[in-house]
Amino acid sequence: MRPKLLVTGGHGVLAGYVRRLMPHYQVIAPDKLELDITNDTAVTKLLNQEKPAVIIHAAALTDVDYCQSHPELADQVNARASGQLALAAEAIGAQFVYISTAAVFNGRSEFSVESDEPDPINHYGRSKLAGERLVAEFSPSALIVRSAWLIGGGREQRKFVANILRLAETQTELAVVNDKVGSLTYARDLVEFIDRSLPSRLSGIYHFASAGECSRYDIAECLVSTMQLPTRLVPVGSEFFAESFAAPRPDREVLRSIKHDFSIDWQTTLKQYIEDELR
Ligand SMILES: NC(=O)c1ccc[n+]([C@@H]2O[C@H](COP(=O)([O-])OP(=O)(O)OC[C@H]3O[C@@H](n4cnc5c(N)ncnc54)[C@H](OP(=O)(O)O)[C@@H]3O)[C@@H](O)[C@H]2O)c1
Repeated sequence: MRPKLLVTGGHGVLAGYVRRLMPHYQVIAPDKLELDITNDTAVTKLLNQEKPAVIIHAAALTDVDYCQSHPELADQVNARASGQLALAAEAIGAQFVYISTAAVFNGRSEFSVESDEPDPINHYGRSKLAGERLVAEFSPSALIVRSAWLIGGGREQRKFVANILRLAETQTELAVVNDKVGSLTYARDLVEFIDRSLPSRLSGIYHFASAGECSRYDIAECLVSTMQLPTRLVPVGSEFFAESFAAPRPDREVLRSIKHDFSIDWQTTLKQYIEDELR
């Protein structure tokens, strides 16, 4: 019989790949209406009922600006609920995987590795770091994977690449920020990494992202040239969009690992995503 795997935030981008790519597990993927992770009673009830062997905790408030203006809710969802889930997972002996982020760092170093000291500069980063710490406390054997700018999902997604694609198909000129850089993580690759890591019970903090670094402008340029779109891209500084963004962003969200190799560069990763999902 296939072991049961629970993925929280079942309708999120990352969870979509868990549902598609891990059929060797019996995947249970409740959305927020079916399992609100802040409802401790509902969490305990579901875990005791299903007794999953593995929990991939992907649910989060991921809108950085919303977290900045709703810090208590961000703490409740990203930190407190993550700790409660880890505690409940430990009680049933489930393997626990927490998805974290490069936003736990201040972005002042050229890149960040697993042993670097976190120092988040916005509330999203602070709430995710608090989540990491509670997870490590309540489930010491948990795997915590930090990813960088996550790409994935189809054209309907409200994430950066799909947004740029929609705009580029209708606008002749597009302003895109070129003074902040990050690493890319393709959600598909991340799920494959987690899947490979489960049998050996990998635990502790791991960074997972493609090699190299890019700005949003570099991503848009690669997308526009690969898809042969007629839009003209205009590089702008982040102050151009300052009024739309409540939260400060680190200058550099670049992840590297001292624990394993990132062999594929971000351009190859992005082109693969475009071929897989956006054509
Ligand atoms: N996106 C990135 O660039 C990025 C980068 C690094 C790390 N990460 C981390 O990677 C993980 C997955 O990210 P993603 O991009 O797949 O996020 P996503 O698409 O925003 O999915 C997150 C899911 O969590 C759900 N959720 C929010 N509050 C919940 C609650 N109280 N109970 C249950 N579900 C709840 C959301 O539901 P609703 O949509 O209905 O609110 C959404 O379906 C997150 O932990 C995130 O912090 C993301």
